[in-house]
Amino acid sequence: MSPFLLTRTLPEDATDAALRSDVLHGLTRTPKELPPKWFYDTRGSELFEEITRLPEYYPTRAEREILAARAPEIAAASGARTLVELGSGSSEKTRYLLDALPELHSYVPVDVSESALVGAAEALLAERPTLHVHALIADFTRGLALPGTPGPRLVAFLGGTIGNLLPAERGVFLRSVRSLLSPGDSLLLGTDLVKDEDVLVRAYDDAAGVTAEFNKNVLAVIARELDADVDPADFDHVARWDRGNEWIEMRLRARHAVTVKIPELDLVVPFEAGEEMRTEVSAKFRQEGVRKELADADMELTRWWTDEAGRFALSLAGPR
Ligand code: AVJ
Repeated sequence: MSPFLLTRTLPEDATDAALRSDVLHGLTRTPKELPPKWFYDTRGSELFEEITRLPEYYPTRAEREILAARAPEIAAASGARTLVELGSGSSEKTRYLLDALPELHSYVPVDVSESALVGAAEALLAERPTLHVHALIADFTRGLALPGTPGPRLVAFLGGTIGNLLPAERGVFLRSVRSLLSPGDSLLLGTDLVKDEDVLVRAYDDAAGVTAEFNKNVLAVIARELDADVDPADFDHVARWDRGNEWIEMRLRARHAVTVKIPELDLVVPFEAGEEMRTEVSAKFRQEGVRKELADADMELTRWWTDEAGRFALSLAGPR
């Protein structure tokens, strides 16, 4: 049997405590806000998969195009014997990297979802029975301890998910990634790029309404997990381009005055008619900005690849 290890660095109830704390703080501040990580229950993850197949949502296809074209270059530049993937999910796009790294010794997928990790590891081991898979159930925004697998390491953070962090949070995150890197190791970072406002807004407000359902799903998560009295139908989906910050903001807007009740948290939260609550920031980048953020975290941008249309980028960086 092939080597498969699963390490939990999150207590079983950590997710629950974090959700309570985020809801308590987010619904009692002005303006109201919920962090995007709570979109991804089983239904939310399905909706996100559906989003990636929408004609308007280009980032997944653009990143896949880069990986398909550049995996051999990425593999050669990194020389990786261990691939660490942060937020690995179903590990679908990772296949391009794995296939380009025949000498790879270990694959370390890191995700908060145990079921995603086990499913992905099983599928992978069926094809690569000698690969060492050491899955980590962990919240990679909190600082990680990696298993002692052979270097060089390539740490991949794909999908443009770094854009869901605010600038200060990205600084903290990139410094914690930097602390995982030894000389010769590298970071592969996926970032969506600044482009025409209409294209961006359509990607987050699709004609079929899938993103609207995805956005409202966070209310269904709260209703189920915290026994909250909240009806997603009382809210409208809003997606806006913030040109000063160069990010897309998703919000939920109360269709009329509503009161959300969460007895478990002793919370009664009034929304005025038209009041908006931010549920996601999805930042878009330029090469100079990525270079600067990496440099601020003591890393150097060494390679930059985009898709043919220049919509999305993969950056390779190493310790400075
Ligand atoms: C998975 C975080 C990259 O920000 O584009 C898709 C999530 N939100 N549609 C993104 C998302 C709305 C997505 N990421």
